[in-house]
Amino acid sequence: MKILVVGKGGREHALITAMVESETETELYSFPGSDAISELAQIVNVDGLESLIEWMKQNEIDLCVAGEESYLVKGEGLANLCEKEGIPCWGPHKQSAQLEASKEFAKEFMLRHDIPTGAATGCDNVDEARAAINGAYPTVLKFDGLAAGKGVAVCADEASAEEFLQEVMVERKFGAGRLLVEECLIGPEVSVFAAVVDDKYLVFTPARDYKRALDGDLGPNTGGMGAVASRQLVTKELMEQIDAEIVKPTVDGLVKDGLPYRGFIYFGLMITEAGPKIIEYNCRFGDPECQAVMPIVGGDLAAFCAAGAKGDLQSDLLNFSDGWSVCLVRSSAGYPESSRSGDVISGFDKVENARVYHAGTMKNDAGEWETNGGRVLAVVAGGDSREDAVAKAYEQLEKVTFDGMQSRSDIGTFNF
Ligand code: AMP
Ligand code: GLY
Repeated sequence: MKILVVGKGGREHALITAMVESETETELYSFPGSDAISELAQIVNVDGLESLIEWMKQNEIDLCVAGEESYLVKGEGLANLCEKEGIPCWGPHKQSAQLEASKEFAKEFMLRHDIPTGAATGCDNVDEARAAINGAYPTVLKFDGLAAGKGVAVCADEASAEEFLQEVMVERKFGAGRLLVEECLIGPEVSVFAAVVDDKYLVFTPARDYKRALDGDLGPNTGGMGAVASRQLVTKELMEQIDAEIVKPTVDGLVKDGLPYRGFIYFGLMITEAGPKIIEYNCRFGDPECQAVMPIVGGDLAAFCAAGAKGDLQSDLLNFSDGWSVCLVRSSAGYPESSRSGDVISGFDKVENARVYHAGTMKNDAGEWETNGGRVLAVVAGGDSREDAVAKAYEQLEKVTFDGMQSRSDIGTFNF
């Protein structure tokens, strides 16, 4: 089976690894890919979405997997164009991917389908935003568009809200767009993933992402400094409640609204005192949650996605192990404000009983791996208990080093 995976980060490295390990025999391709991915999949050198579709057609690709989200909403949309050409695509149509691309679209969808979420007001400018905040802090401000994970600010006070409004609504750091002023929800966060095939779905192992740069959940937001995955992360009762109040109504809502969906969906949840509430949808797997989840998913992911893309949810092809998986990210000097490239990474060959997924790395002319981005790599280990998995992951992480490296030392150790 010829599979092309779209993306270049740690999530795609993990997805492609799972496809290599699938029983189905695969011939893997990736666009745009990375040096690490090129060891598992052939990199496709094309320029943009249209030529990618053309390439897939000419090379008779059996399945296109959207690892990252951006191509889902570019131009006519990756899945829409694939459908036109008869290429099965694991990833939703452009109109459905608005659930991730537009916070306001997502909020209206949640309200229309009675899915528990924080109250919110859409605003066009700073004055409207100030009126919507109405002096109630903490408040959450969300830019209504793709902003590489940087479009959300949880503001404890007026000063931080004003700073965000200035950057986003006056200086227009992310371009034109509206803003959502949202109720601040309190509670532990959980990321829940499901594979959706039209009106059916399969819930995967949930995970928790550690978004802040520094220990103790301090410092600026990042793309994620680590993640923990386990079925034990939420009780059976809570998972049933999440399924009944959030997952099922979402899938039913997509069908009711005529929004075609075949692919992963990610529910960013806050477990509040009043029950689980949704903070956001993403139309893809989480990064770095995918790196934590994939090692504890067994079965044939390649065949599962291929069948799903053709409208057949074959849940029996996958199984989810008990136990815990811990993913630790090493980021480069300066992250998240900036990132430093060119620091040589050593120790990959010393890692034992853990997986290493590359994100921002590249091979230099001397054949050494070096940093090439903010989040550089992740080390993932599993264990029967959370403590065991945390200890194993940290023991292995120590072996992979480079100048200026940053990591948190408390992933998986609190908030359970
Ligand atoms: P998002 O980009 O929507 O995932 O938001 C980034 C982070 O902001 C989330 O992971 C939460 O930690 C926080 N956040 C978003 N919305 C809310 C909310 N309504 N209440 C509290 N925290 C939030
Ligand atoms: N880890 C958060 C995300 O993938 O959006």
